[in-house]
Amino acid sequence: MKKIGIASDHVGVDLKNSIKEYVENLGLEIVDFGPLSKDRTDYPKYGKAVADAIVNKKVDGGILICGTGVGISISANKVKGIRAVVCSEPYSAKLSREHNNTNIVAFGARVVGEDLAKMIVKEWLNAEYEGGRHGKRLEMIEDIESGKANADPDGNFVC
Ligand code: RB5
Repeated sequence: MKKIGIASDHVGVDLKNSIKEYVENLGLEIVDFGPLSKDRTDYPKYGKAVADAIVNKKVDGGILICGTGVGISISANKVKGIRAVVCSEPYSAKLSREHNNTNIVAFGARVVGEDLAKMIVKEWLNAEYEGGRHGKRLEMIEDIESGKANADPDGNFVC
């Protein structure tokens, strides 16, 4: 990933600014989708802005921050093609790239401190999708997303 989109809600503005500088210092390009002030706002619009930028290939991946990381990642995950992970430790961030090919990492400004957030971002950025056996599972997720997959009466996955 060379170009990263970043956004938050009002709770995450300070951490967003720190992470933005951190990512720039790693030599990557970063696009800030806001907000610029700490005035109360709504996380879904910022999650959607970064998600849209990814599916429209304006950026390669995204970083999202709200109080917990939950609301903003759920919002991004409603956009077709987005696989956003919310995590509060680096191991899940790394594995989410390697196994799940996540294109957004999210975390909570009320959950993680600045140093831990940087570790999460570093592991996520450095990890690569492994493909192979994981591809079939991502295709199954796409089938769920596009309505092609359902559970049969016994709860089995059918396409
Ligand atoms: C805002 O109060 C808070 O709900 C938001 O930052 C986030 O934690 C939601 O998931």
